[in-house]
Amino acid sequence: MNDFKHNRVDLSCQDTLSGMKNLPDNFFDVAIADPPYGVSTASTWQIDQGHGLNGFGGAWKLATHSWDKLSGLENFEFTMCWLAELKRLVKPTGSIWLHSTYHNSGIINVACQILGLEIINEVVWYKRNAFPNLSCRRLTASHETILWVHTGGTHRQYYFNYEEVKAAVFENDNFKESGKQLRTVWDIPNNKDKTELKFGKHPTQKPLRLTERMLLISAKQDGRLFVPFMGQAQKLSRACVMV
Ligand SMILES: C[S@@+](CC[C@H](N)C(=O)[O-])C[C@H]1O[C@@H](n2cnc3c(N)ncnc32)[C@H](O)[C@@H]1O
Repeated sequence: MNDFKHNRVDLSCQDTLSGMKNLPDNFFDVAIADPPYGVSTASTWQIDQGHGLNGFGGAWKLATHSWDKLSGLENFEFTMCWLAELKRLVKPTGSIWLHSTYHNSGIINVACQILGLEIINEVVWYKRNAFPNLSCRRLTASHETILWVHTGGTHRQYYFNYEEVKAAVFENDNFKESGKQLRTVWDIPNNKDKTELKFGKHPTQKPLRLTERMLLISAKQDGRLFVPFMGQAQKLSRACVMV
């Protein structure tokens, strides 16, 4: 296992379930999970290392890796396990953000309901520059689903930075008007600048602006963030804790 500490960031390369089991209850204020989508269909397909990844929208098969090859039931069981751990780790005053596509969004939604994680909002991340559909047999997938959930049950103690979010202006987001409430459709092109790619590329890397928006909504100053699935194109990725 490789551990890495830098300033206020701890990076740990291990199986996320084993890693989470060693962390104490109510340790985090916010968690952002980008789990395997269960999209892989081809066993030998590997991402072309020369792929630029800009505008990497609906080309799901490019994300084919062994860690993603889960049957529906395996995916459900795995999802129940890591979500139950997240429920234990995130404070009732905190938030959990869950990325998904149509391949696994149903599984995650059902798992949240079974575990008593209340869904605050279902956000549609609209990717106006989504990759065209290469098979020409489907519509171009141009969005992903993000669930914003909390662990506090009926008490609803989760932090929401309402006023600042309402006042915010997000450059290039055609749906957000300054001074108006933020809607559940976020217009954020799926591209990354050079600084975001300087530590390597991953087919499902999210633009920083997406994460910044989640933190603006739900994170308090000096809170603790947990990211259980950080990109590595092999079986195990890195889990990251930021304080
Ligand atoms: C959809 S990708 C998320 C990538 C992330 N958005 C990024 O840019 O770093 C899912 C990640 O989960 C990792 N993963 C899958 N199963 C895991 C496990 N049991 N423990 C830790 N990581 C795992 C994979 O290696 C992959 O990097």
